This record gives sequence, C-alpha cells and structure tokens, in this order.
Amino acid sequence: MSEKKDHFAYKAKEYETEIRRTNNVLNIADGIKDKIVFKNTDHIIDFGSGTGLLTQEFAPYVKKITAIDMSKSMTEILRAKENSFKCELEIKEIDIITYKTNNKYDGIISSMTIHHIEDIEKLFKQFYSILNDGGAIGLADLETEDGSFHSVDTGVFHFGFDKDEFLQIASKVGFKNLEIKTISVVEKPYGRFPIFLLTGIK
Ligand SMILES: C[S@@+](CC[C@H](N)C(=O)[O-])C[C@H]1O[C@@H](n2cnc3c(N)ncnc32)[C@H](O)[C@@H]1O
Repeated sequence: MSEKKDHFAYKAKEYETEIRRTNNVLNIADGIKDKIVFKNTDHIIDFGSGTGLLTQEFAPYVKKITAIDMSKSMTEILRAKENSFKCELEIKEIDIITYKTNNKYDGIISSMTIHHIEDIEKLFKQFYSILNDGGAIGLADLETEDGSFHSVDTGVFHFGFDKDEFLQIASKVGFKNLEIKTISVVEKPYGRFPIFLLTGIK
C-alpha cells in the first residue's frame, strides 16, 4: 500500500453522486469506444480507476481489467462493487509510476487522472513498457485551465494540458497513430472545462 497522502479521502464517499462527473466519464467512455475496439480476450489497465466509473463501462468488452489507484478511500468504493463487474477485476492500490511488472497489457484507459502526475514523459514511458506491441491507449483529461477546476488541492501537478504538447510527449516516447480531440466539457457554475481524449497504439 502506498504511504503517500490519500488526497481523495474527503470526497470518496460522495464521489459518484455528482451528475456532471458521472456524465463526463460516460462521454469519455463513449469516446474511447469509438476509437478503440477491445476484444473479449484483452487484459487492460484502468489507470487512476478511482471508484471504477470508467472501469465498469469497459467490463462487458474485455477479459480482465487491472484497476490501478493509489487512494485507499477510492479503491474501497470500487472493492465494494467488484462482484458486479462483467469481467475479471484485479485491484491494485499502488502508485503507477513505481509499478514493476513482467505482465504486458493490451490497453490502458484513463479518465481525469494524468494531471495528478508530475512527470508526464515518465508516465508515458511506463505505459509504453507495460503494453504489448499493438496495445492501445485511451487517455482523457483536462485541457489547459486557469487552476479553478479544483476547489481543493487533490495533489494536482498540472492545470490541464495543451493538447498538442501532450500528443508530442506520447509521440516522443514512441506511440503511433496518435489522435487527440475534445471529447467532453465539464460545466461548473463558474466555468466550462473542456476534456480531451488522446488515443494511439504502441
Ligand atoms: C479524479 S480521480 C479519477 C477517477 C476515475 N478515473 C474517474 O474518472 O472517475 C483521479 C484518481 O487518480 C488516482 N491517482 C492519482 N495519481 C496516481 C498515481 N500516481 N498512481 C495511481 N493512482 C493515482 C487518485 O487516487 C484518484 O483516485
């Protein structure tokens, strides 16, 4: 278990009650499904799985999902519903950056998590190293914002990302067939926050 601070402890229990949050994850899931067709033999990772909102959208289409999240409070919510998943589910309460494995995965999906990672190039290198050749990425997160998206600091390293710069980092690491586009918008009382989806393959 990670000894890092659980930044999501204060919000895990009410996390799934916010409609704009659940709608945003559904938009992201639809966007990934439009671009990536997973097979029922595939083993994929949901990185920053949280309570499993994105994980559960892909369970009917794959053999196994490894849900990786370092927050104890968020993974507790996921564990409580793990029997309802329509695929094998493995929950790893760890930091993705230090994850060492000989396993190779067929895909990595992620929703609203990468702005919590300090070194993005290191993250893409980690993704590249644990994917099979031909493995897919479907990664969604905030576009550049003014810092107002989070009312409380949940361990935020980036106020969103410039889409071109984000794609370039993935390209530099070796990912191919890269496409990035706005996939959703989170409407808050004080602003609109566009969300991008980056897809590509190793
Ligand atoms: C905003 S939540 C998103 C949860 C879920 N993907 C969704 O869209 O509802 C971000 C999650 O990423 C996790 N996270 C942040 N940094 C991480 C890291 N280095 N390794 C694993 N999980 C991380 C947090 O614990 C948190 O549960």
